[in-house]
Amino acid sequence: MKIIGTGSALPSLEVTNDMLAEFLDTNDEWISSRTGIRSRRLRSTETLVDLAVSASRSALESAGLNPEEIDFCICSNVANNYVTPAMSCIIQQHIGSHCPCFDLNGACAGFLDAMEVAEALLKTDRAENILIVCAEEPSRFCNWERRETSILFADGAGAVVVSKGDALKAIRLTTVPNRDVIVYQRRLETTPFEVPGVDVTEPLKMNGREVFRMAVETSQRDLHAMMEETGISADMIDYYVLHQANLRIISSIREHLGQPEYKFPTNIERTGNISSASIPILLDELYSAGRLKKGDMLALSAFGAGFVSGSAIIEWTK
Ligand code: ACO
Repeated sequence: MKIIGTGSALPSLEVTNDMLAEFLDTNDEWISSRTGIRSRRLRSTETLVDLAVSASRSALESAGLNPEEIDFCICSNVANNYVTPAMSCIIQQHIGSHCPCFDLNGACAGFLDAMEVAEALLKTDRAENILIVCAEEPSRFCNWERRETSILFADGAGAVVVSKGDALKAIRLTTVPNRDVIVYQRRLETTPFEVPGVDVTEPLKMNGREVFRMAVETSQRDLHAMMEETGISADMIDYYVLHQANLRIISSIREHLGQPEYKFPTNIERTGNISSASIPILLDELYSAGRLKKGDMLALSAFGAGFVSGSAIIEWTK
């Protein structure tokens, strides 16, 4: 696999910490010192489909491909208001391609899951070009009367086009079963046969400290395992493009790896946590800003509900 195109789209509305403090018992100092987030983008006038389609079109344009040249469309999404059809089907209808489509839910590590599947499809000659689009609106499953989670999450979409190549040096997915660390259950219709009390739906619950601990532990463990496997040392990595969950998680992983700050680009200060979309959005921003050059070695790492972790080492070839 190699990445041949990138794209991203953020909602137009910027919501600062001070704006949250108008209706939540919180303040800019608490949020920015605990998470690094100063503002985030939240959907107001646009839909998640609008953002996903815009990111996908940009990635196709950046790859120099027309929609009919895409052989698979994979969408990473945790939740949106379509239970069916899949987001990927809706996206493909808008962009005008006719390939097989499917969604996957890998929580915040969904981009790495999609890369793993895409690599297998490319390696087995099932595809030449694959569109991966991560479209997320975790802000829509927070309780906005509670300050614990609503300060963290935001909306957006990031996309890449991948095609055959040998840029991917290693990829690693792991899961430690732990339902309770982050859980959210959506309410569905009831039937006349349902027995009350059997299905209890839970609003979003997150054990923030446990997420923090597991994220740092799994991320650095997986990065070390890939470095051992490939012989690519921490010093040889040019950029660590990590899930933008929380600035303190990123700093803690950086300290464990003993690497300088400039190798850990971030955008969480102005985007918040956009679940699986955060890595492809950051990749697109870095590439558009001219910060990635051919031959750079990137380490990607994401983690989230499950508890899942996904990481990869990939050479930038564009
Ligand atoms: N504003 C002000 N005070 C707050 C807020 C807030 N928004 N939220 C909580 N507090 C209070 C608490 O009530 C508590 O008060 P108390 O001491 O009087 O009880 C105090 O601040 C400390 O609360 P903690 O929850 O212990 O705060 P902590 O230092 O652990 O920070 C945080 C919380 C930021 C959530 C941290 O645990 C964290 O970053 N965890 C990782 C979360 C994360 O990245 N999640 C993404 C998961 S991605 C996915 O898979 C969807």
